[in-house]
Amino acid sequence: MNTAARSSAAAPSGHTHAELVLETVNLDRTFQNGPERIHAVSDVSFRVQRGEFTAIVGPSGSGKTTLLNLLGGLDSPSDGHVRILGTDLSALKASERVDFRLHNIGFVFQAYNLIPVLSARENVEFTMLLQGVDASERHRRSSELLEAVGLSSEAERRPTKLSGGQQQRVAVARALASKPAFVLADEPTANLDSTSASALLDIMARLNEREGTTFLFSTHDQRVIDRARRVVTLVDGRIDSDDRRDPDTAGTAKTNPA
Ligand SMILES: Nc1ncnc2c1ncn2[C@@H]1O[C@H](COP(=O)(O)OP(=O)(O)O)[C@@H](O)[C@H]1O
Ligand SMILES: [Mg+2]
Repeated sequence: MNTAARSSAAAPSGHTHAELVLETVNLDRTFQNGPERIHAVSDVSFRVQRGEFTAIVGPSGSGKTTLLNLLGGLDSPSDGHVRILGTDLSALKASERVDFRLHNIGFVFQAYNLIPVLSARENVEFTMLLQGVDASERHRRSSELLEAVGLSSEAERRPTKLSGGQQQRVAVARALASKPAFVLADEPTANLDSTSASALLDIMARLNEREGTTFLFSTHDQRVIDRARRVVTLVDGRIDSDDRRDPDTAGTAKTNPA
């Protein structure tokens, strides 16, 4: 309730300042598996405005990972387009796409994917290092982000000294380090117990409300789905439904067993 005013300011519901960060047009991705042709993503067209907090849901095999990989430029569509901030990813050369990704998209993976020989802080600073951000600014930003995910006192620890929930919080901080247009998270709570999953969602929701960070996360975890403001459901690679919820009831919703 204390964040309601800020939350509506950051949310796209006001229409007036809606900014399109992501758009897909008739997106298709097929895989040839021997004689079998798999339509992992079929004719997916949707848009994401700055400040949205969206869950991509669907059962295992429905195309969530394939779709997120296309949205993040980690994979190329068989047909159709992905536009990020107006740039068509397929129009970029491979090297340009790497650079575009580095500056515009944050990734959080199911398996954390932290660099084991680096501390939490060094992991958070890594993208900024690649971007050529100077040391004092890197330190300032990593301190701010580690504090935002509740890990100030763990900053100098390596991933093996952190719990799974803490590692995923480092991954969220790392994803945000480059101030990306949006963060893609593929089943970020899949390896977490329910307390850690809930803490991670609290942090993501707070970053969304306070800083207007745009999140797009896949999940088949009902507790995570309950926290989204928009739920896009995939069935066999197609969008089956796309529902928006009242920002006052989503995002802060408690677990609600069906
Ligand atoms: N590299 C690949 N080669 C062949 N088939 C794939 C590949 N990646 C995904 N698929 C198939 O595409 C479908 C969607 O998979 P995926 O995107 O991983 O779904 P989800 O993340 O929802 O579980 C599945 O049938 C899967 O087997
Ligand atoms: Mg998947």
